[in-house]
Amino acid sequence: MKDLTPRKEDLDPIEIASRDEITALQLNRLKWSLKHAYDNVEHYRKAFDEKGVHPYDLNDLSDLRKFPFTSKQDLRANYPFGMFAVPREKVIRIHASSGTTGKPTVVGYTANDIDVWADCMARSIRASGTRPGDVVHVAYGYGLFTGGLGAHYGAERLGCTVVPVSGGMTARQVTLIEDFAASTIMVTPSYMLSILDEYRAQGLDPRKSPLDVGIFGAEPWTNAMRAEIEEAFDMHAVDIYGLSEVMGPGVANECVESKDGLHIWEDHFYPEIIDPETGEPVADGEKGELVFTSLTKEAFPVIRYRTRDLTRLLPGTARSMRRMEKITGRSDDMMILRGVNIFPTQIEEQILTVEGLASHFQIELLRKGRLDEMVVHVEAVAARAAEAARAASAVQLGSRIKEIVGVTVRVIVAEPGGVARSQGKAVRIVDNRPKG
Ligand code: DLL
Repeated sequence: MKDLTPRKEDLDPIEIASRDEITALQLNRLKWSLKHAYDNVEHYRKAFDEKGVHPYDLNDLSDLRKFPFTSKQDLRANYPFGMFAVPREKVIRIHASSGTTGKPTVVGYTANDIDVWADCMARSIRASGTRPGDVVHVAYGYGLFTGGLGAHYGAERLGCTVVPVSGGMTARQVTLIEDFAASTIMVTPSYMLSILDEYRAQGLDPRKSPLDVGIFGAEPWTNAMRAEIEEAFDMHAVDIYGLSEVMGPGVANECVESKDGLHIWEDHFYPEIIDPETGEPVADGEKGELVFTSLTKEAFPVIRYRTRDLTRLLPGTARSMRRMEKITGRSDDMMILRGVNIFPTQIEEQILTVEGLASHFQIELLRKGRLDEMVVHVEAVAARAAEAARAASAVQLGSRIKEIVGVTVRVIVAEPGGVARSQGKAVRIVDNRPKG
């Protein structure tokens, strides 16, 4: 793989500023953001008043813990535009995240918000090793989802040649990557695996593809998956994080030279980790739920937004800004099977240790009598597709999961192509337990 470390002089000065400078900037911006939300959004005014806090009560970053949390429920209750802090006419773009139930969560951007977003994304794409002039293939979905347009504006801002493909039509994805010589691809990691299958189906060697960098996010993925993709394509696989409520992709990104967690762009987003049960902030280094407060957003400020994503904060390395560890799961993705907490990423890790298994998988939850049962649907690689080989892989995976994760699951190894694919975010859990 090529050394794609960006030059220091190409970074935004704040990326490598001293911690004191970053803290001072955050404090100023946080004061502004709290006041902006309080003055312009009825929900925040009421929530602050109920807690007996006022924006002037923030004298230090640690005072933020006095302020109320914001949850997805609050956003839903103010559907569609009730959380906007500017008149609707000043909002030049709407995005929405579908969620699993009910109405989508609607977010809005002023012209300045879109500008800041493009800057954060350009910074993320540069951190991933992409340079101005590179061809960037965007296979995140375009539309209400923030992935496609977020990537698009960021890559343009960096000065790249953008190919706005969106998701789907996998054979055409391969043709366009090859014909236009894309050196960067931006796509969900699960869809990258489908693209990998397609390379092989077309008889092409993925290691000879023009790709040098993949910027993967929108869903949890493991370092084992990183190793598989890097090996298969001879490319860097870098993690990008974000969520619509906080902006979209580009809230945090790994650096290609270190790949040791995602640097949070702390000049725009203030992170906290809390104990999800008590709501108390925990120290850096301790695991918990990630909470964000926006520092510069105009149309849709968020104050202490509970992401449900589980991670921990670590000190800066390649940049001065703090890192978040790769996300292991969401609190609402956690399955509890006979008392054991399990995340889909733990299953993914074990699948990748068993020879003969491809990395596409889905977890089905069933109820047998009064007990919950977990079935792992995974598929064999072509060379190990015979029935006996599949049965052997199933036994091996079952015992690895039992040994390492600590639960007994049923494993069904399908033939190649037998597990449902998604063209955006993978659906990892299918809950077929009776409702109610
Ligand atoms: O998924 C934004 C995005 C687009 C991020 C493209 C990266 C690339 P939402 O649809 O609102 O926004 O979903 C946000 O997806 O709270 C996490 O649970 C999950 N997620 C996003 N990035 C990662 C990642 C976009 N790198 C939700 N690792 C978040 C793990 C991720 N989970």
